[in-house]
Amino acid sequence: MTLLRVEHLTKQFGGLKALDDVSFELEQGSILGLIGPNGAGKTTLFHCINGTLRATSGKVIWKEKDITSLKSFQIARRGIVRSYQVVQPFQGMTTLQNAMVGAFCKTNHYQEAESIALEALKKVRLDHKSDVAARYLNLGERKKLEIAKALSTQPELLLLDEVMAGLNTREVLEMLEIIRSLRANGITILLIEHIMEAIMNISDYIMVLSFGKKIAEGSPQSISQNPQVIEAYFGAEE
Ligand SMILES: Nc1ncnc2c1ncn2[C@@H]1O[C@H](COP(=O)(O)OP(=O)(O)OP(=O)(O)O)[C@@H](O)[C@H]1O
Ligand SMILES: [Mg+2]
Repeated sequence: MTLLRVEHLTKQFGGLKALDDVSFELEQGSILGLIGPNGAGKTTLFHCINGTLRATSGKVIWKEKDITSLKSFQIARRGIVRSYQVVQPFQGMTTLQNAMVGAFCKTNHYQEAESIALEALKKVRLDHKSDVAARYLNLGERKKLEIAKALSTQPELLLLDEVMAGLNTREVLEMLEIIRSLRANGITILLIEHIMEAIMNISDYIMVLSFGKKIAEGSPQSISQNPQVIEAYFGAEE
């Protein structure tokens, strides 16, 4: 079943087209990897899907309903939530309290929010740090907390923006396991990542952006051999 359909999405910042007529579909239960050089428009695509920014034109269709002009909190309540590339937890709050912020999207009851948040922390293997203030978490733990905050909204679609950036090899492998287990629990995933080995390994399907345009999509193997993709990353051969 198609969960999400993005149709001719364009986002203009003054004269710059950060997204230029981008269309794609996302199947329920899949992991779609989104790659592209720096400044390609990947994060902007997340902004426009989850209502952080309003698209200049085009549509975002979720379960056959047009959600293009909804606000982030309304979109979160419908089941789409995203992580941020630059993680900014509430430093003075505990890990559990940070994760609870997401849960209040679903409930007004403190105790219920606490148990939803604890469940989310378990899923990212961070529950042992529940009572630690976020300012004491290292980068790997902050990345996990960023995902837990999103999971606490109990999403159906998770948009993950570079959750492996800056992690060491062991942490990247653990993050891949976590993402796989989220999918096994029924969450559909759209993933931005620069670590090629990781994204090629985990994605069912890859989409490539360059200068705001979708230049390729296909299996990880076909993308890794696609001349247009190689050119976008390394420049044309003389
Ligand atoms: N709020 C904004 N105002 C003006 N220009 C912006 C804004 N946000 C992004 N841009 C520009 O839009 C383009 C796409 O940026 P975006 O952050 O989406 O790229 P990206 O693919 O996520 O890059 P990276 O891999 O470096 O995170 C860039 O040229 C960027 O400078
Ligand atoms: Mg980005």
